[in-house]
Amino acid sequence: MRVLLVGGGGREHALAWKLARDDESLELIAAPGNPGIASLGRCVKADPSDAAALLDIARAVQPDVTVVGPEAALAAGIVDRFREASLPIFGPTRAAAEIETSKAFAKHLMVSAGVPTARAIRHTDAAAAHRAVRDFAAPVVIKASGLAAGKGVVVCGSLEDADDAIDAMLLRGIHGAAGSEILVEEFMQGEEVSLLALTDGDAVLPMLPAQDHKRLLEGDAGPNTGGMGAYAPVSIADAPLVDRIVDEVFRPTLGALREGGRTFTGLLYAGLMITDDGPKVVEFNCRFGDPETQALLPLLESSLLDPIAAIARGDRLTGQDELRWRAGASVTTVVATAGYPDAPRKGDLIELAEMPEGALLFHAGTIRTPSGQLATAGGRVAAVTAVADTFGEACRRSADGAACVRFAGRHFRSDIGWRELHRHARAS
Ligand code: AMP
Ligand code: GLY
Repeated sequence: MRVLLVGGGGREHALAWKLARDDESLELIAAPGNPGIASLGRCVKADPSDAAALLDIARAVQPDVTVVGPEAALAAGIVDRFREASLPIFGPTRAAAEIETSKAFAKHLMVSAGVPTARAIRHTDAAAAHRAVRDFAAPVVIKASGLAAGKGVVVCGSLEDADDAIDAMLLRGIHGAAGSEILVEEFMQGEEVSLLALTDGDAVLPMLPAQDHKRLLEGDAGPNTGGMGAYAPVSIADAPLVDRIVDEVFRPTLGALREGGRTFTGLLYAGLMITDDGPKVVEFNCRFGDPETQALLPLLESSLLDPIAAIARGDRLTGQDELRWRAGASVTTVVATAGYPDAPRKGDLIELAEMPEGALLFHAGTIRTPSGQLATAGGRVAAVTAVADTFGEACRRSADGAACVRFAGRHFRSDIGWRELHRHARAS
């Protein structure tokens, strides 16, 4: 099968790795790809947010299926354009992708469909937002409605901090148009779980639950990042809870999208808070999570390509479609540059030592220099995933693997999976 893969991060390297395992004769073209993906296929220069340029590439390549990684491509309407050109593509239309690209839309949809989520009010006027905040107790969450590169959410410890966040977004425009509409949202207490599911718009094929580590520093301290690591499965999200999330979150959300004329096909990602009152939605993403994908796919024994190709062709998933997972655990450690996430340093040469047994290296922000050396090119440089029979072993090998990716100013967390590790220790 010929696959065009859009994107060039660690998530896309993991997708490329899995798709190549699913089809030994896979012909992979990645736009733009990265040096890791280059060992699995051909990389062509491309800007993932330029849907017209990607359509030109697809017309030339004639892929059997296009798989889209980043939300920017989906927000730019790549799926709409490819469908008009009768090119099979895996992902939601621009209108369906609003579940991620407009938090105001997502919240409205959840409320109308009865999906459990935090109470929120949307505002475009700062004075009105200041008044609305007074109806909430601190902590309170201020969110830019649009895509803000993972920086649009501020958890405010006091109402004064909330006022500052409101002013920064609505008066000073720090996120531009993405922050011209905000949500003032109730703070939810609990542990976060990511549940990703493939869908044809109706049927739901959930993956294993995963947990992201968004904070930069060990012990979940420091600023929010795109994700410093992830693991799967997550024992607090056992099979009955996953069933409950499918019934209470995925089915009503997909139903409301269908009824609104925005049928969602592709991968729907629910970021959930597991509260004392049950699971509640923090956010939806319209694409695979990064770094959750790097943790999940190495555990997936059954084909990912088959359901992806079926959904891209517009086929319905059948009762036979299921995802089978190997036993054990997977832990992914992200290796980042100095200065990440605010001002990532680039251009440091990378030296790769041999990975420990069971560890996989996924490239993210790497490039080849003209002389063929590997160098850093983005904040998150690589992700190292280790799969093992026990959770503790997966944690150790993942951190040991991350230490094998060497460059000046390197930073990684050696405590990925710490909550789960504590749970395992308590249970034994
Ligand atoms: P988001 O970009 O919506 O995923 O938000 C980023 C992070 O902010 C989440 O992963 C949570 O850790 C935190 N967060 C967002 N909304 C809430 C909320 N209502 N209550 C508690 N934490 C939240
Ligand atoms: N890991 C969070 C995200 O992909 O948005």
